[in-house]
Amino acid sequence: MDLDALVSDAQARIAAATGSAALEQVRIDVLGRKAPLVLALRELGSLDPEERRARGADLNRARRSLEELVDRRARELAEAELEERLRSDRLDVTLPGIVPPRGYTHLIEGTRRDILDVFVGFGYRMVDGPEIDTVHYNFDALNHAPTHPSRQVTDTFYVCDDVVLRTHTSPVQIRTMEAGPPPVYMATAGRCYRRDTPDATHTAMFTQIEGLVVDRGITLGHLKGTLLGFARAIFGAEREVRLRPHFFPFTEPSVEVDVSCFNCARDGSPCRVCRGEGWVEILGAGMVDPNLYGYVDGYDPEEVSGFAFGMGVERVAGLRHDIPDIRLLWENDLRFMEQFG
Ligand code: DAH
Repeated sequence: MDLDALVSDAQARIAAATGSAALEQVRIDVLGRKAPLVLALRELGSLDPEERRARGADLNRARRSLEELVDRRARELAEAELEERLRSDRLDVTLPGIVPPRGYTHLIEGTRRDILDVFVGFGYRMVDGPEIDTVHYNFDALNHAPTHPSRQVTDTFYVCDDVVLRTHTSPVQIRTMEAGPPPVYMATAGRCYRRDTPDATHTAMFTQIEGLVVDRGITLGHLKGTLLGFARAIFGAEREVRLRPHFFPFTEPSVEVDVSCFNCARDGSPCRVCRGEGWVEILGAGMVDPNLYGYVDGYDPEEVSGFAFGMGVERVAGLRHDIPDIRLLWENDLRFMEQFG
């Protein structure tokens, strides 16, 4: 065995190993149990002592130098491999990520929240009511005469003789009073249904917000002040409200409420929104008709009085954003909706 040739061949192979795995194979070949060098070391015992010492020293020196070489190369390769992993695995956190398209509230929902926020601010309790309700809650207990026109099947969607898709959120007034004694300061919002032919101001499904207050000594003045606060929060701090006599079966007196035109100030006249009137009709309201207290327990009209109001969310949204046709709110054309995102 030519030791020098063996060593230089091993050195070359160690230097040429390009990865840890390849180097490990070289190590097994030159320093493993079956490597010529190792076999030669094992055979030292069969030599005579003189020769054994000299040969042993040479072989051991060769082995140690090769071991050192392998170790050094192993460290080099491990370092290079780590370097390479760090380079290729690097996550550049400064790269812009993939931004998912951001959602936003639908204008009806946004308007609903804006309005309810006002009444939450006034300390009202938020209440829910069913969209499918009985004739009792939708009409009878709200003091509708048996012949009231909105009871007709041409106006109202009947599920069966005594169950309807609610035509307004006013049934929640009765349900709220049934649920507990006065005082009541509640607001509710939700979908309502009427057999209307869709046009620029009507859809068969729409959203209402209803309020009810019942307490000792509640007057029309409280109603007006409340609605003034609402109008200013939603339509601007300069707004005024005015009440016009009207009729609703469940309030007495009943009023229609106008808010001073917020568009005239914006545009100058002649104004499209109020058609030069200076006032825009915004909601229905009134003092709770004492008859209603007869449909529930624990409300003595000699003790308490109250007011109620109801408004269309689509109408408020349409007025605020100058939307010419409320059907746009239900078509969900993104080009339209995104303007309010
Ligand atoms: N429920 C009525 C409607 O749908 C609106 C309304 C008017 C609600 C007067 C009220 C009220 O609470 O007092 O047209």
